[in-house]
Amino acid sequence: MSATAGYDLWASDYDGFDNPMVALAALAFAQAKLPLEGAAFLDVGCGTGRNLGLARDGGATTLVGIDGSRGMLAQAQARLGEAATLVEADLSGTWPQLPGPAFDIACISLVLEHFPSVAPILAQTATHLKSGGVLFVAEMHADLAAAGTGAHFEKDGKVHRLPSFRHDDAEFAQALAAAGFAPCAIAAWLADDHAALVPKLAKHRGKRVLASFVARKL
Ligand SMILES: C[S@@+](CC[C@H](N)C(=O)[O-])C[C@H]1O[C@@H](n2cnc3c(N)ncnc32)[C@H](O)[C@@H]1O
Repeated sequence: MSATAGYDLWASDYDGFDNPMVALAALAFAQAKLPLEGAAFLDVGCGTGRNLGLARDGGATTLVGIDGSRGMLAQAQARLGEAATLVEADLSGTWPQLPGPAFDIACISLVLEHFPSVAPILAQTATHLKSGGVLFVAEMHADLAAAGTGAHFEKDGKVHRLPSFRHDDAEFAQALAAAGFAPCAIAAWLADDHAALVPKLAKHRGKRVLASFVARKL
């Protein structure tokens, strides 16, 4: 099953599912303290519009989400109504529906595991960011991927596993440089530090579970 076909199936339950990675990515988003006020905000792989909602609440004035799952986009539409422009596209290609370097902030949250390489998506995202614009990424940590974890969900008693690939810091650093971003620190989120707040992380004690960073386009 392709990732987008899987998310079509998952869409109606996605926001109701107690997902520890979503909880941690939301903490990373808050901790990043993105300059949202008045910003043009692009959410790459926007899913149900969770981050677009956070951006709207933070004062972003232009909200655009792009995703390949009609089911997820329908949820985003229901959440955001007229506030956001939602675009259906396969992120593996180019995204001609979006304007050129028009965005102050781009967000890629829990999306990159579905791609064999992060470089094409980061490069494509860079073409839509203004010079000096910032990119926020939250992604499953390579340690968790190496331990065999990947996006999955249960529907009608059946577990569906979606295509999932491991990406480490070296791959991110190389792809960021190639896409024209300044070097940045990549934070590793240890399950132990957040298990009190996100109880489902307890089973991952000892492992780094999320990688996150904010990179500035040169
Ligand atoms: C785990 S969800 C994350 C949604 C949202 N960013 C969040 O943090 O809640 C991953 C999203 O990536 C999208 N996606 C995965 N592969 C894609 C592809 N090839 N083209 C377009 N969207 C894709 C899925 O449709 C899904 O909405």
